[in-house]
Amino acid sequence: MHVIHRIAELREALGTGPRPAFVPTMGNLHEGHLALVRQARASGRPVVASIFVNRLQFAPHEDFDRYPRTLPRDSELLAGAGCDFVFAPDEAEMYPAPQAYKVAPPAALGDILEGHFRPGFFTGVCTVVMKLFQIVQPGLALFGKKDYQQLRVIEGMVRDFAMPIEVHGGETVRADDGLALSSRNGYLSASERGEALMLRRQLLAVVEAVRADPGRSTAAEQAAMQALQAQGWQPDYVAVRRRSDLLAPQGDEARVVLAAAKLGHTRLIDNLEF
Ligand code: PAJ
Repeated sequence: MHVIHRIAELREALGTGPRPAFVPTMGNLHEGHLALVRQARASGRPVVASIFVNRLQFAPHEDFDRYPRTLPRDSELLAGAGCDFVFAPDEAEMYPAPQAYKVAPPAALGDILEGHFRPGFFTGVCTVVMKLFQIVQPGLALFGKKDYQQLRVIEGMVRDFAMPIEVHGGETVRADDGLALSSRNGYLSASERGEALMLRRQLLAVVEAVRADPGRSTAAEQAAMQALQAQGWQPDYVAVRRRSDLLAPQGDEARVVLAAAKLGHTRLIDNLEF
């Protein structure tokens, strides 16, 4: 496996070979990321993973500065998962001047849910992913369903720009107790780590209530928000949506329930398809 820091060097290494399978990440890797790398491997294409903590997708008050940077350990994990090339540019390589051209998703998808509570977040994500796609030129790109809205936003971008890239959504990888793996779980204290399970438990309660009576969506969302608040969480949203575009379900379309909530200083997100 090669660890490459420069755009020109990566382009040269990939040369005129087959278009790679690509897993973009911000590092501090866990089994969720590695599962995507293994799926990339299974495609038979050369595998590229990127590690870049993208300033553009963090608001000034967010955790850009303290986001864990663990390249040596990440590289070992990637090698073990069958990655061929790690692209780990520094800030000056990716943004030699402030990024002046941006890619913004449509408001109907980009300004709801995560985008409502993190204004500009998906523009930051789209812009860096567009740039990484131009650099890596993948034939296949893999994203986790853990960040469900991000997956939909990237699928839309690829479709709207007619990019010759297949986008694959990987299932959410969870700890044994059900907590969705996340680089941010490392911010939780031991007692918060125990309490963190409550987020998924509330999603399961919403699924059960809406399955029993689809008309009770709003009541189930509110009950979950209140239950989280009662346990000291600060929920941003609990929302039942249709999977395809994350708008309100109209009939018996395939659904997903998504949630974001802060536990102490740590903001967690999770979702369940049902
Ligand atoms: P990051 O949070 O590092 O996640 C990288 C990829 O791993 C994303 O596609 C994410 O959905 C996936 N992932 C994270 N946790 C997962 C889990 N528990 N199960 C399955 N997949 C999981 O998402 C980003 O980075 C950035 O926004 C990025 C796309 C790299 C752009 O900067």
